[in-house]
Amino acid sequence: MVTDDSAHDTVVRLDGVHKEYGATTALAGVSLEIGAGEAVAVMGPSGCGKTTLLNMIAGLDRPTGGSVVVHGENVGEASEKELALYRRHRIGMIFQFFNLIDDLSALDNVALAAQLTGTPARQARRRGLELLDELGVADRRNAYPAVLSGGERQRVAVARALMNRPALLLADEPTGALDSRAGEQVMDLLLDLNQIGQTLILVTHDARLARRCAGRLIELADGRVTGEQALEVSA
Ligand SMILES: Nc1ncnc2c1ncn2[C@@H]1O[C@H](COP(=O)(O)OP(=O)(O)O)[C@@H](O)[C@H]1O
Ligand SMILES: [Mg+2]
Repeated sequence: MVTDDSAHDTVVRLDGVHKEYGATTALAGVSLEIGAGEAVAVMGPSGCGKTTLLNMIAGLDRPTGGSVVVHGENVGEASEKELALYRRHRIGMIFQFFNLIDDLSALDNVALAAQLTGTPARQARRRGLELLDELGVADRRNAYPAVLSGGERQRVAVARALMNRPALLLADEPTGALDSRAGEQVMDLLLDLNQIGQTLILVTHDARLARRCAGRLIELADGRVTGEQALEVSA
């Protein structure tokens, strides 16, 4: 795995990426390039390969063909150990159903992400609290996920994703389980993050929300890119 990622303006480059699960083709030759600081929305019908695409970029799964290069690192060819480090240090992920740990408080959920990369607990909690504060949920730091609202859970999940200052933030239908008001708040949050330079790939079903926070839209169907358009960000 190449580790010299100095001065790459391209953060993500996919070349002819295929992914087969047994007889199912999830990705059928996807090529795309995403630059530093971009916010890209990925849309398409259920089952078209959106989550598979994010998983390839996140190093959670390997392509069966083609290449996935992120910050100069060939993710598909990395060892398991390299992938684990890559996921912890370079990638932040946000999911539809939050994926918080039920028996950890909001702050402990967030701090854990940094402790896993070797940050001392005290320092991890300090940064975790700063992030919860920036995201407007510091007053919920000692609450457990079960008593948080959906919007609060997603804010905690965003804080967790940002703990290690990831080069790339991946969001898979992050507003899919939220009511429209909480969904818009999370979208505004992602927009703010992108405006301060965070590179973002966002899978969503909601065209209006995609338009609100992405600068480019990639359309997927049946594992292929079927359309691409620049969006005007209307904050
Ligand atoms: N781990 C897996 N094992 C088998 N088939 C899978 C797996 N993950 C995804 N698929 C299949 O790949 C296709 C794309 O799935 P997915 O990427 O989850 O689509 P989307 O996120 O757009 O709804 C679907 O047909 C799905 O059933
Ligand atoms: Mg999906």
